[in-house]
Amino acid sequence: MKENLFEDKWALVTGASSGIGKEIAFELARKRANLVLVSRNESMLKILQNQLKEKYQVKVLFFSIDLSRSNVACEIEKYCEDHGICITIVVNNAGYALKTANEIKKPEQVSGMLEVLVCNLTELSLRFLPGMMQKGEGYILNVSSIVAYIPVASTLTYHAAKAYVLAFTKALHWEYAKKGIHITCSLPGATKTGFAKASDLYVPEQLWNTYGSAESVAKASIKAMAKNQCIVIPGWNNRFLYWLSRILPHYWIYTCQKKYWSHYRPS
Ligand SMILES: NC(=O)c1ccc[n+]([C@@H]2O[C@H](COP(=O)([O-])OP(=O)(O)OC[C@H]3O[C@@H](n4cnc5c(N)ncnc54)[C@H](OP(=O)(O)O)[C@@H]3O)[C@@H](O)[C@H]2O)c1
Repeated sequence: MKENLFEDKWALVTGASSGIGKEIAFELARKRANLVLVSRNESMLKILQNQLKEKYQVKVLFFSIDLSRSNVACEIEKYCEDHGICITIVVNNAGYALKTANEIKKPEQVSGMLEVLVCNLTELSLRFLPGMMQKGEGYILNVSSIVAYIPVASTLTYHAAKAYVLAFTKALHWEYAKKGIHITCSLPGATKTGFAKASDLYVPEQLWNTYGSAESVAKASIKAMAKNQCIVIPGWNNRFLYWLSRILPHYWIYTCQKKYWSHYRPS
């Protein structure tokens, strides 16, 4: 991959304030892309803006917005238009999970999560596509999760939303990959970020120590997007889990997880 691959191109990254999104922003800036950073935490975005500008001398803007509200994709598009920015790269990365107990206690929170993971991701992908088609050049990276393939016992809706992201991104790839638009779905496995805390999920220390780094997920995802690869599963251990999930009965995987979690987190 060329070091200046994204020189003078503008990239929009959602969920850029921490974890995988932050590392994706660094990776894109390293490849000379200018950036529009999106998430809620304005002070974190401001810090990141200064770090990226100083380290890579690229242009960086940020837009603080809550993606759990409906119809915010048009506000992001308008922000870009108002600043005279033509987006070439869209990275839909923002996300969190709700655990089963919280989904049952407050089902109204599920809609907000689906806005972030499904609705706004879809709308942002579609809103910037015509501009990419016009230029004959564009990149879309949608961050799903390995749980799109593997059942999880701690949530009812998160893995279903991530399965949607995978199916939608595959459809986009099949439709536009041969028209000059690179479209990739990244399916990270467990990664050391603020995700578990933000999602109120308990992770035992011995599990946490096996998690991959956000930096390696970002590098593998950007590399796959540059190559116009439809799907990428960062990390050999996650690719192994994927192949296991193709062989083992899903109900059995689910039941084993249930037993494991009840040992650590009796409820
Ligand atoms: N970590 C893992 O184990 C793992 C595994 C597979 C897939 N993933 C996926 O990877 C993506 C990134 O997660 P991460 O692991 O990097 O977690 P993270 O460190 O918690 O980062 C999540 C990002 O999403 C943003 N975000 C969350 N809710 C938002 C909202 N309502 N509006 C706008 N932005 C919002 C957060 O920013 P603000 O708080 O500033 O809004 C933050 O920048 C997610 O889609 C997640 O599902 C993570």
